[in-house]
Parts: sequence; structure tokens; C-alpha cells
Amino acid sequence: MTQTYVIDQLISAKSIAARIETLSREIQTTFKGTDKLIVVGLLRGSFVFIADLVRELDMNVEVDFLETSSYGDSMVSSREVRILKDLRGEIEGQDVLVVEDIVDTGHTLSHVLQLLRSRNPRKLETIALLDKPTRRETDIRATWTGFEIPDEFVVGYGIDYAQRNRNLPYIGCVRFTDTPAED
Ligand code: IMP
Ligand code: MG
Repeated sequence: MTQTYVIDQLISAKSIAARIETLSREIQTTFKGTDKLIVVGLLRGSFVFIADLVRELDMNVEVDFLETSSYGDSMVSSREVRILKDLRGEIEGQDVLVVEDIVDTGHTLSHVLQLLRSRNPRKLETIALLDKPTRRETDIRATWTGFEIPDEFVVGYGIDYAQRNRNLPYIGCVRFTDTPAED
């Protein structure tokens, strides 16, 4: 059973779309001249972000996915990162962009980058929609960040709390209540 909570909007769908437009232009500049960009989404939290991002990229793109697990249904990171589903394709000698929903402690992204680097891509960059810099336990930083946010538990735009609220079009903070939320 999940506790009763309400969701306060933190970042609107419109702000997310505007930020993605800006970031996609920067990505295109960085990867200018490449014949193919492999966009690697970290499941499941990045699925909405990656869908919007690739549609703004005016270049040859392939999409692949990697699934890691560290949170389960909990709100705190276990710091142990396991690969649940590996990439389908090879990345050796390729240009790769890793797409993450949130960089929190940084353990997930560090682990994934270490793994992908060992496969010798030509270029390896990262984009995270959200960053909680005050929570960092590693010295990792994404190449591009959508928004820096405070230490709040967020949901929406692909991001869940115990598998719920991924379908919200905006990002919101979870706030627990003592009384049941009204519909
Ligand atoms: P890290 O390994 O601590 O950086 O955790 C990163 C992962 O934890 C993200 O990919 C998210 O799936 C999850 N996560 C971190 N913060 C939140 C949050 O506020 N809401 C939901 N998931 C989160
Ligand atoms: Mg995640």
C-alpha cells in the first residue's frame, strides 16, 4: 500500500517542451557531422523524455534501451546498481547519448557510464532531465541537464512513485497527507 499523497506541480509541460527544444539544438551542435547517433534511454523513467527528445533531433538517430534497478518501490537509493536489461545493439566506435530521467546520488549514471565506456564508443555524452545536485554522492555530472531541482521526491513525465504517476504531463512534487486526497 502506498501512502496518501498529493502532487504539487513543479515544472509545467510547456517549460519542459521549451527546454527540450534548446537542449536538442545543443546536442545537434555537439554531434554535428555524425552519421548516426545512438540514443540510449534508461528505462523506465526516461521513456517520455526520450520520446520527446528524439522528435526534436534533426539527424540520423537510433534508439536503444538499458534497464537498471536501484530503487525498487522505495524512495531511497539502494546504491547497488544492477543491469536488468542490456542494450540490443553494439556501440563500439559509435556516437552515443545516454538519456536519464533524474541524477540523484549519481550511482546509476556512474555505473552505466563505466559499463558503456568499457565498450569503446567513439563519443559518449549524457543528458538528464532533472538533477538534484544536493543529493550527489559521486562526482558525476550529465553533459546536459534540463532542470536543477531541490531535494524533493518528484513524479510525472515518465517518472514514478511505486510505478504510479508516470502518465502526468508535468513534473510534480509528492507531498504526503494525513487525510485521503480528494478526487
Ligand atoms: P541515483 O542512482 O541515486 O542517481 O538515482 C537515479 C534514479 O533514481 C533515477 O533514474 C530515478 O529512476 C530514481 N529517482 C531519483 N530521484 C527520484 C524521484 O524524485 N522520483 C522518482 N524517482 C527518482
Ligand atoms: Mg531511473
